[in-house]
Amino acid sequence: MDDTTLPPELAALKERLERVPSLGPAELEEAYVDLLGRKQGRVTKYLKLLAAMPLEQKRVYGATANTLRVQLEDAFRARRHQLKADSLAAPGEDLTMPGRRRWVGAEHPVTRVVDEIVEIFREIGFAVAVGPEVETEWYNFLSLHFPADHPAMDMHDTLYLDAPPVDNEPAGRLLLRTHTSPVQIRTLLSSPPPVRVVIPGMVYRNDAFDASHSPAFSQIEGLAVDEGISFIDLRATLTHFARRFFSASTRTRFRPSFFPFTEPSAEMDVECQLCHGSGCPACKGTGWMEILGCGMVHPAVLENCNLDGERFTGWAFGMGPHRIAMLRYGIPDIRLLLEGDMRFLEQFVP
Ligand code: DAH
Repeated sequence: MDDTTLPPELAALKERLERVPSLGPAELEEAYVDLLGRKQGRVTKYLKLLAAMPLEQKRVYGATANTLRVQLEDAFRARRHQLKADSLAAPGEDLTMPGRRRWVGAEHPVTRVVDEIVEIFREIGFAVAVGPEVETEWYNFLSLHFPADHPAMDMHDTLYLDAPPVDNEPAGRLLLRTHTSPVQIRTLLSSPPPVRVVIPGMVYRNDAFDASHSPAFSQIEGLAVDEGISFIDLRATLTHFARRFFSASTRTRFRPSFFPFTEPSAEMDVECQLCHGSGCPACKGTGWMEILGCGMVHPAVLENCNLDGERFTGWAFGMGPHRIAMLRYGIPDIRLLLEGDMRFLEQFVP
């Protein structure tokens, strides 16, 4: 319906509606009572008039009047809001401007993996231990039964610090630790068995920075030392871990390996999480993925911690949460987990 055909009362209401956005505070409240007042308001009065009109007019004008009423209510509400905002704002501020969206962060995928692993071991009685990233040669190598100049150390080249060794620390140069295993020694020296700990932390190596290597990465070490602990405990515990972390039906296998501080030593593989064992490019067709090194703690390591290697036995493991995050989330390049590129990380915001 165009304005020329509106009855004068409705045309007047429409005009008043257009003026609402420019009314001052006092005028606004006056106009509100005049137009929308419950008993004497112009809208109410008009709606009462309608009652006496013929059906056809009632229908058409009634609808228009109701629409105007709603539009007026909205216009008054908006104008009140605006006046309130203006009165609160300092000069030049506009409080009606939409706010900035709050930035929502999330845990880094590697942090999430570390927390989950620690939690699984916590459930079965393991405590958490940590140690320094700057270590002495004794803790990082010698106490762990690396013979001086053994080729096993070739994989553990790192940065040495040009600083005198710390007082009361066993001799040797200071270096950035190449693994979390030295915290095994620190733990056994400070708390006698029974010991069950997991040890998360960053480690450093003279490695390339490419799709599968990084000079800085995380590890989680595990250590259980007590009387009467055997390889069966190792195998059962680590298989339990794999089933909790990956899935209840995940298969595991242990292959013989070598580490100076364990004897015997093994590497644990889990069924490839992408192809479930049938062989795919991610597992190089083998159906298996290596996730950790482990073994029975070498008696010489226990002796270095002043423990009787005849009385106590134990097992240990070391795994890399960066690599495990890659396996779990199908991430092809470790650099994605270290460069902090938001386009990548945003995918992990829940
Ligand atoms: N420290 C070893 C490394 O960084 C990983 C490791 C293997 C830790 C076997 C262990 C273990 O505790 O038993 O290569």
